[in-house]
Amino acid sequence: MSERLVTMLDQETIAARVKELGAQISRDYQGQNVVLVVVLKGSFLFAADLCRAIDMHNLRIDFLGVRSYGEGTETSGVVQITQDLSRPIAGEDVIIVEDIVDTGLTIAHLMDLFRTRNPRSVKVCALLHKPARARVSVDVDYLGFTIEDKFVVGYGLDFAEKYRNLPYIGIVTRD
Ligand code: IMP
Ligand code: MG
Repeated sequence: MSERLVTMLDQETIAARVKELGAQISRDYQGQNVVLVVVLKGSFLFAADLCRAIDMHNLRIDFLGVRSYGEGTETSGVVQITQDLSRPIAGEDVIIVEDIVDTGLTIAHLMDLFRTRNPRSVKVCALLHKPARARVSVDVDYLGFTIEDKFVVGYGLDFAEKYRNLPYIGIVTRD
């Protein structure tokens, strides 16, 4: 079985949109205490570019390890925290940074978890959204791109841990 890649979003398109999202967040949160919660591993490249597009000085970055996938392309529906935040988020304005909202189960779970920790606010910034696959409805406050129901890789996203290093987002097909 061989895997082929077709570009869905090229580097320039992603970079331009990430800059816009950063500018929007900078405007909305001026003067507030923001924590970007980077959901590992898929969001690491998006978060790295997004945080540099946010023009704020009182910005914290923390990481959360989450596992909801096996080696396949279907969610197990079970969200496991593999690495928790390094500090409390009470009283802070949290922005969860996700690579992709697919079924919505991961974000819904994280919103519930974080609300128990009394942050001032919790919002979601996702690079990609696949509304066709939604199993629970989640509000994505800052969204890069809405995409069709295709399994995508690159720019942090993987297929069985491969392709995270691609600088663009592609569709992987097997034949
Ligand atoms: P959800 O819980 O179904 O919304 O899925 C969230 C997680 O599944 C994302 O953070 C990704 O890690 C993974 N995921 C969902 N769709 C894709 C895809 O098309 N490519 C790679 N990973 C995906
Ligand atoms: Mg992810």
